Amino acid sequence: MLLSILLTTAMVVSTSNAQTLTGQYDCIKGAGNYDLCQNLWGKSSGVGSQSSTLISASGDNISWSTNWTWANNENSVKSYANVESTTAKGVKLSDIKTAPTTWVWDHTTQSDGIRADVAYDIWTGVQSVGAPASANSSYEFMIWLAKLGGIQPVGSRIASNVQVAGYNWEIWRGPNTNWQVISFFTTDLIKNFQVDLTDFFDYLIANQSVSSSQYLQSIQAGTEPFTGSANLVTSQYSVSITT
Ligand SMILES: *[C@@H]1O[C@H](CO)[C@@H](O)[C@H](O)[C@H]1NC(C)=O
Ligand SMILES: *[C@@H]1O[C@H](CO)[C@@H](O)[C@H](O)[C@H]1NC(C)=O
Ligand SMILES: *[C@@H]1O[C@H](CO)[C@@H](O)[C@H](O)[C@H]1NC(C)=O
Ligand SMILES: *[C@@H]1O[C@H](CO)[C@@H](O)[C@H](O)[C@H]1NC(C)=O
Repeated sequence: MLLSILLTTAMVVSTSNAQTLTGQYDCIKGAGNYDLCQNLWGKSSGVGSQSSTLISASGDNISWSTNWTWANNENSVKSYANVESTTAKGVKLSDIKTAPTTWVWDHTTQSDGIRADVAYDIWTGVQSVGAPASANSSYEFMIWLAKLGGIQPVGSRIASNVQVAGYNWEIWRGPNTNWQVISFFTTDLIKNFQVDLTDFFDYLIANQSVSSSQYLQSIQAGTEPFTGSANLVTSQYSVSITT
């Protein structure tokens, strides 16, 4: 998330395939090894609507879509519909041997002048357990796969032409509430992403003074819409860790 609104409640609805969420904080818990949540935390800054649909889930694989349309306050995030792994967490960064992830997505519809990102949100802290954007959060690492319209990460650009996992990134860094946000940012559109997240963790430890004894608390993947409309379809997503 780009701004600091803490979410502590989520409505749990029963799990079944091709189920569509429409409410502000609706979630499908335990879709494979994921929770899929609408998380319309910034909806009051705009006018619009959004729904998220679970297409299929099996183990570490999940497919879902998020269809949104938002107007007003073009610099305010309206939501972060995301999937959060229920298994890839609770481990020290230094104990993670591999963290393979795949994310294949597309906007099957997209309005002109859309403002949105498609990004991972990865949370770490000194405790093994921590909800995203909570008092237990030390860091929020974002990996942007899309930057559509004139939007940018939290903080300021502190490095350019950083090669990690075969891609060229800008690094942005700044504070948010009680944690630091470090973002891997690109203006490229990456619609088929297959990397090992340990390449990112290694860079953060070696080059951004992140302690390797930080615990991975959460890996989320989703979209932050500001304004416009789009239907984001993730045909394939997976993330896991080995120790
Ligand atoms: C997940 O997807 C991969 C790649 O398509 C496949 O090889 C694997 O069997 C799938 N796993 C499950 C649990 O569905
Ligand atoms: C997305 O939502 C809009 C408006 O709510 C609707 O007209 C459209 O058919 C939806 N698109 C898809 C692909 O579900
Ligand atoms: C913060 O960490 C403590 C100790 O591990 C845990 O009991 C608590 O549930 C965590 N709080 C949140 C909001 O994640
Ligand atoms: C990280 O720091 C090391 C040691 O200073 C340096 O050799 C390396 O090039 C840096 N990596 C990146 C991607 O900037």
